[in-house]
Formats: sequence, structure tokens, C-alpha cells
Amino acid sequence: MESNSIKFLTLGIESSCDDTSIAVIDEELNVLAEKTASQIDSHKIWGGVIPELASRMHQEAIMPLLDDVLVEASVTNPAKEISLIASTTGPGLMGSLLVGAMTARALAFGWNVPFTTVNHLEGHIFAAIANAKDLKPPFISLIISGGHTEIILVKDFGSYELLGTTRDDAVGESFDKLSKFLGLGYPGGPIIDKLAETGKVMYDLPMPLCDTDEIEFSFSGLKTAAINLAAKLKEEGRVFCKNVPLNDIAASFQNTVCKILTSKLALAFDKTGIKALTLSGGVAANSAIRSALCDFCNKRSITLYMPQKHLCTDNGIMIAIAGYFAYKRGEVMNHRVSPSWSLW
Ligand code: KG4
Ligand code: ZN
Repeated sequence: MESNSIKFLTLGIESSCDDTSIAVIDEELNVLAEKTASQIDSHKIWGGVIPELASRMHQEAIMPLLDDVLVEASVTNPAKEISLIASTTGPGLMGSLLVGAMTARALAFGWNVPFTTVNHLEGHIFAAIANAKDLKPPFISLIISGGHTEIILVKDFGSYELLGTTRDDAVGESFDKLSKFLGLGYPGGPIIDKLAETGKVMYDLPMPLCDTDEIEFSFSGLKTAAINLAAKLKEEGRVFCKNVPLNDIAASFQNTVCKILTSKLALAFDKTGIKALTLSGGVAANSAIRSALCDFCNKRSITLYMPQKHLCTDNGIMIAIAGYFAYKRGEVMNHRVSPSWSLW
């Protein structure tokens, strides 16, 4: 068996929100180990991520997770076997970012290994490469999560242009807030996704900003319209039993999100003439969105790169890959921890 010391191993650390995730990859982007400590159960009871709790939990999780990952990757002497350390330094929650980034810096110093900082959104762009190693720019990347709604033109690795984003709520945030209002729990995305399976698309909901050619989203108005619809149906005496009409509201809401996303993607593809799309972020797990994007891309002969669900949510693999590519480009970065670090 090939020894680790003759491979180029990158250790990637992600801790920007509520997942502590560490991975080791080799120069062929094979994943030697990946472990994630999710905090979701601790935040669930509060109906959202509590930043102070998140940073404390990262601190508790990170060293045991690192030990486990190194064992799984058969790394016995990291100072000799790890060639590069990459860590997210923004955007994200300040305390959470600090735990991962400071741990990574300390390890790099102690092991005398090169260190590079990674922008979290660049990480999401690289999630697609984990499954499609020969994917080359230019392509368009759609990132949809609890904190992000971005259509990005990837001109080259390291060269990004923001084509469109949201004016207000992120897509995932609108799922979470709607679910909270309906008393369904947190995180709302998977709950609404499941409810919609038995629902019918029977309510017309608004598609804010879809009457313009601007690539810009507004999910706050859609969320409010769905909340008002639920309140009205309740007032009219429609009983929310056996999930009816909650499942119809969920299906109608989700369908409208799909129509909004594809209408703005259409503008982005018309504008650029590009023929490839990558998808990432927690909302990319949504079954209706996945199938709407498959249809959209089939109709337009666009190649769709949709990573497995665990690569779409926050993970150390995408950070390791983005860091390794930056290192190969000679763009080792030393970006300070910054909650609003912009990629463009
Ligand atoms: O990427 P992620 O794990 O964390 C960040 O926000 O960075 O995304 C979490 C978001 C939450 O808003 C959650 O409700 C949403 O992704 N989500 C979904 C689904 N699974 C997770 N939204 C819609 N449908 C899903 N199946
Ligand atoms: Zn993320």
C-alpha cells in the first residue's frame, strides 16, 4: 500500500455555522476521511442557530473530531504526512469561524505545514468537483442555503462574478421562517419538503421580482404571502388536521420557489451562454428543486452537476478541495477571520 508520506494530503476544516467538519483528501481528490459533528439537535429547541452556543459546541467538538479523522485517514505523523491545511475564515458566524480558523492556524504552526484560508462560498462552488473531478470553468454555480442565495459565474477557478443574489431572506431562511410560523419546527426545509410530498400545488403565490430582467431574488414577500395564506385559511375555519391544507401550502410554496429559481437561472444562462450548472447549499437537498433543475437543464441542454446531499451542506471536503486548488494556483491566502468576507 502507498504510504501517506509520499502523497499530498490536504486537511480541510469547516466551522462557519453549526457544523464542525474536518476532512483529509489526497492530490487526486480522493477522500481519505471526513467527519462532521452536527449541532442541529441543540439549536432545534431554539428555532434557529444560536451563535454563542454554536461557537462553544465547535470548541468541544473540534479536537476529538480531528483525532478521529486522522485515525480514519491512517495519518500517524501529521507533521510529516499532512502537506496543506485549509480552513474557512468567512463568511459566517464570528465565534464559529474563529474556532476552526484558530485551530487550523495552530496546527499549521505546530506541524510546520502551509496554511491557506478559504472563502466559504468558494468551498460550496468546489463541492461539485468532489463528484466531477474533470469539471472545468466556465460554469454557473447556484448556492442555496440558510444564509445564501447566489448565482455565481465561475469564469475560472479563483475568478468569480456574482450574477445575482437576494435582497432579503435567503431561500433556506424562508423555508425555516414559514415552518416556524406554521408551528412545524426547525430546520423548516426538510419538514416542508416532506409535507409537500402529499400536497397539491393549488395556491397561487407571488413571484417577487420575476417581472424584471434583473437577476435578483426576494424571498421575504413569498414567505409572508404563504404565512398570510395559512392564517386566512385558519380564520376561515379550515382545520389543520392530517396536515391538510398545510401540505398543499407546502407544495405550493415549494413549487413557487422552483419557478423563481429557474426563471432567474434562465436569465443567467441567456446572459452568459454557458452550458454547465453546479448546485450546492443545504436547500439543494430539496426534492422538488432537484427535479425542477433537472428538467430545466434537460430542456436547455445544460449539464447539471448536483453533488450528493452530504456534499451540498457544509463540509470539510469542499474546503479541502478549494484550498488545494488555490495552493496549486499559487494563491495561498492568509485572510483574517471575517463574517462578511466577499468573494467578489
Ligand atoms: O447549508 P446548510 O446546511 O447551512 C447553512 O445555512 O449554511 O443549509 C441549511 C438550510 C436550512 O435553511 C434548511 O431548512 C435548508 O437548508 N434545508 C432544506 C432542505 N434540507 C435542508 N430546504 C429545503 N428542502 C430541504 N430538503
Ligand atoms: Zn454553507
